[in-house]
Amino acid sequence: MRARHDGEALVRIALKDTHSRLWHTPPMFDRLRGSRVLVRPYALDDAQQRLEAMEESREHIRKWDPEEAGICQSLQETHEWIAHKLSQRADRVSFSNGIWNVDGTRLLGGVGLHPRKPEGWSVPAFTVGYWIRPSAQGFGYVTEAVGLVVNFALDALGAQRLEIACDPNNIRSMAIPRRLGFKMEGRARNVYRYPDGRLCDEAIWSLTPTDSRPVANP
Ligand SMILES: CC(C)(COP(=O)(O)OP(=O)(O)OC[C@H]1O[C@@H](n2cnc3c(N)ncnc32)[C@H](O)[C@@H]1OP(=O)(O)O)[C@@H](O)C(=O)NCCC(=O)NCCS
Repeated sequence: MRARHDGEALVRIALKDTHSRLWHTPPMFDRLRGSRVLVRPYALDDAQQRLEAMEESREHIRKWDPEEAGICQSLQETHEWIAHKLSQRADRVSFSNGIWNVDGTRLLGGVGLHPRKPEGWSVPAFTVGYWIRPSAQGFGYVTEAVGLVVNFALDALGAQRLEIACDPNNIRSMAIPRRLGFKMEGRARNVYRYPDGRLCDEAIWSLTPTDSRPVANP
């Protein structure tokens, strides 16, 4: 097992090989291709596209994830953000990806896979987050992208738990785990207050290896 410092906390990163019983660095994908989307990490050259997609999306993200809506306000900030995400990926701390059209020419949104805190690697358990630019909303791209990432986590990382947490009032977000066969475990009450004063619950969805696999294009 190796320990690394991610700037905030010590994160223990390891997967145990069931055959050799040795700890090893978990694998991570360079790209996942579905029938209509490509999921891959951002490269530094993507900063302009990331900024444009974020400018289009900022207001509709703000309603449900105000912190995320505030990031990447300029090309410089976007460049720095991508560099930070690449470093986190190399250190296996967290994995942010763009959702692209299938030929990789247009950035549509984002999907993140994050070891669940605390000690997500030891389960292994991951949380999944997502967004899509308004002009690409309503076509099933997010469902497909999340399905690709979830299947990778089950197959390549031996994930025992995938978790999606969202505001139950976020109807579009709630539809993603439901469509992919996640089970809703419950509703944590009054867990978050938005900057505008709204108090919200959080719906917790999970998928484990004993559940049906997400189908690529439901
Ligand atoms: C939540 C969010 C990502 C959902 O995006 P979305 O576009 O609705 O999700 P999908 O891309 O999977 O598209 C689903 C829609 O495409 C339709 N669709 C078309 N073809 C489809 C296919 N092959 N597979 C699945 N859905 C398909 C579905 O019927 C659904 O349509 P609806 O709008 O009538 O319900 C988006 O609303 C968003 O970015 N919101 C702001 C940020 C946010 O809330 N993030 C989540 C925080 S928890």
